Amino acid sequence: MQAPTDKYGRRFEKLRVSLTNACNFNCIYCVGHDHLSGKLNRPANELSLTKGKKLNATEYKACISAIHEVSPLKQVRFTGGEPMLNPHLMQLIQHCKELGIADVGLTTNAWYLAPKLNDLLAANIDSLNISLDGIDDDVINKMAGISKAHQVKETIIMACETGLPVKINAVIMKGKNEDQILPLLEFCRKHNIKLRYIEFMEMGDYHTTKHKYTVSQDEILNTIAQRYNFKKQDRTTNSTANYWTLDQGGTFGIIANHSAPFCKDCNRLRLDSTGKLYGCLSANEGLDMLQNMHSKELLYNTLKTTLSQKQEVAFTGSSISMKFIGG
Ligand code: 5AD
Ligand code: SF4
Repeated sequence: MQAPTDKYGRRFEKLRVSLTNACNFNCIYCVGHDHLSGKLNRPANELSLTKGKKLNATEYKACISAIHEVSPLKQVRFTGGEPMLNPHLMQLIQHCKELGIADVGLTTNAWYLAPKLNDLLAANIDSLNISLDGIDDDVINKMAGISKAHQVKETIIMACETGLPVKINAVIMKGKNEDQILPLLEFCRKHNIKLRYIEFMEMGDYHTTKHKYTVSQDEILNTIAQRYNFKKQDRTTNSTANYWTLDQGGTFGIIANHSAPFCKDCNRLRLDSTGKLYGCLSANEGLDMLQNMHSKELLYNTLKTTLSQKQEVAFTGSSISMKFIGG
């Protein structure tokens, strides 16, 4: 059986698996904030967000194996919420490696990472994506709703020292952390980390904010141009980011969901922690995986329907925040 494709020839090759929708951080772009007052609209550090069904380790493994059989996967990335809150993370990474999936990664806020680095290496993890939205402690603390920014930066440096490829994801929001664009680049050049700025996506509470908080790819480039000269690299197929090489050494990327969208060759599928499949971040409804994996035909048809959620051109906004669908 050939993997399902859509009318643009897109197929699922990268699976993002959300291991929980709970998180110990409260990033302002992700959790419920009243964006006008800046106040959290739920108590900080609330960990019990999951309502209803939660996949257990056996179910996660069965889902990943079944998807891989019908639509062979090149990459699985565990995400959340904060995926390190799920105690089964290591065995799920191992499971993917046993299935022969080439690239198995983790997207994390790094809070619980330091003592788990050896376990991750033993499980054969291939790469880490770490969220860091600034370099100044007060900005990081404000962006992430935490109080120990320095701990996150120290852990990032430890993670790099293991030799694992580490990428930093930095969401840039107007009026919040644009002043961190250059400091982030300095930090990443110094520690040889691949930095990707992310254009803010209007999700959850921000669904209707009409680009009030968007800092575009051009605005990010203009800021970097104040200190650096750079050249654009050719885009790799299926890449979410555009990359530039600095004349002074180093590179950086921008994930420009709005100003340089990349839907036309998107190959990503998401499975959330309640067992719902999403073919697109813009989709407000997922399809139930557990009910649709009893036969290859049924799953094929389900994946085909999920593929039809993909946008033609660009992300169109979502009333669900990233925490629930998996970043
Ligand atoms: N816009 C852009 N990026 C977001 N993330 C979470 N919410 C948003 C948003 N609204 C990013 C986080 C993390 C990844 C999982 O998703 O920074 O790195
Ligand atoms: Fe947690 Fe990630 Fe959302 Fe931040 S962006 S609150 S780290 S799930």
